Amino acid sequence: MRIKVEKMNSRGQGIGRIDGLVTFVDGALPGEEVEAEVAVRKRDYAVAKVVSVLSPSSERRNPACSHFGYCGGCQLQHASYDCQLSLKAELAADALRRIGGFRSLQIKPCVPSPKSIGYRNKASFPIRRQGKRGTIGLFREGSHRVVPITSCPAVENLIQRMFSHFRSLMSEDLLSAYDERSRLGLLRHLVVRAGSFTGETLVALVVAKEPDADERAKLKAIAEATAHAFPSLRGFVLNVNRNEGNFIWGGKSRTLVGKDELTEHLGDFSFIFSAASFFQVNSYQALNLYRFVASELEGTGGGKVLELYSGVGSLTAFLAKEAEEVTAVEEDAEAVRHMRGNMARNGLRNVRTLCGRAEDTVHLWRDWAPQTVVLDPPRSGCHPKVVAGLISARPRKIIYVSCNAATLARDAAVLCEQGYAVTCVQPFDMFPQTAHVECVAVFLRNS
Ligand SMILES: C[S@@+](CC[C@H](N)C(=O)[O-])C[C@H]1O[C@@H](n2cnc3c(N)ncnc32)[C@H](O)[C@@H]1O
Repeated sequence: MRIKVEKMNSRGQGIGRIDGLVTFVDGALPGEEVEAEVAVRKRDYAVAKVVSVLSPSSERRNPACSHFGYCGGCQLQHASYDCQLSLKAELAADALRRIGGFRSLQIKPCVPSPKSIGYRNKASFPIRRQGKRGTIGLFREGSHRVVPITSCPAVENLIQRMFSHFRSLMSEDLLSAYDERSRLGLLRHLVVRAGSFTGETLVALVVAKEPDADERAKLKAIAEATAHAFPSLRGFVLNVNRNEGNFIWGGKSRTLVGKDELTEHLGDFSFIFSAASFFQVNSYQALNLYRFVASELEGTGGGKVLELYSGVGSLTAFLAKEAEEVTAVEEDAEAVRHMRGNMARNGLRNVRTLCGRAEDTVHLWRDWAPQTVVLDPPRSGCHPKVVAGLISARPRKIIYVSCNAATLARDAAVLCEQGYAVTCVQPFDMFPQTAHVECVAVFLRNS
């Protein structure tokens, strides 16, 4: 089938039409004409895969990675970096237009990441039994099949080296790999984190059951050999996840070597967090993002800031430097424990921390009377109670950091129906080579 590709969707697929039917084309770029094979045909859409590119875009590039197209990690390696940036700004604009109804909103150009490859400070590699052997790699897009990669250009060099170390261990078949169907086998995931600015590493092996004595001895030997081979290793953690499903972490962790801690430096600040903590995966770009958000507090007279979804306090520190007082709300008790330590470590005494769900603290906001609210929710966006709470607390400014333009658009539409106006939307490329885009939207209360 010949398809003319008009646009790109949020999964990085080209969008075209076959006899009027909307078709999502894997591996095609806007402006291209491709020969594609239809893989799925439904009543109102089809999915196709490029067989050959008949007229390539001038932005088409050779992917940096030999696994591109098989592994589900990256979607845009076949586009120049400039093209990736403009596609991302367009994705944000498109979501705000379609979902939020913002027809004439100007989106700023996407801020490029200081590093477009080798930037990720965290990687999770699934381990599965495939055939007779254990395989470590990355999941194929939309599947539970592990693509046995040899390297990943998206990750920090330290992570790549740690991955290679485990890949050769896997080939020795010391411990069994998990099998999703039978639910037998031990090793489920390898998670490696690195401090891009500190050079530290932290490793977690997620296992599917409590190991027996023989397995425990082997795991301990692996942890010690890893510490010996990597002086950068701060800790080796064992996490037990007996649950079915995709979620990586189970409830129980213990350290086999060192501590479950990693230090990262961002600008003047230092943060400590654990293997399962949320921390932005691109430290270089997180620094740009946080500085931008903090700069939005200038001119508000500092004042009182309410920060929702604050994680381990990395953005909080940047806000605390500008504000008179920050009240930070986070639901995860472990993250709050790290946040408290991080504020003390950085000598920031003007931060109050509250452990709880943002939507359960809404009744307190009117009394706190923040001039500015900064929020950075997960992909699902804000609970409707949070949006309603913002409207009744009436802060002068709302700074919304979002990793999902669709839920940002949904929440922004409600805020703008109820007395706020968007003054700026600034996309940041936090995840180069992928179709994900991070955005900051700034709202001011209409006078
Ligand atoms: C996208 S992260 C942002 C963290 C932080 N701003 C940063 O840049 O590292 C979202 C955070 O919100 C927390 N979270 C998720 N749902 C929440 C809720 N309903 N109430 C409060 N915190 C929540 C998560 O635990 C996570 O730490």
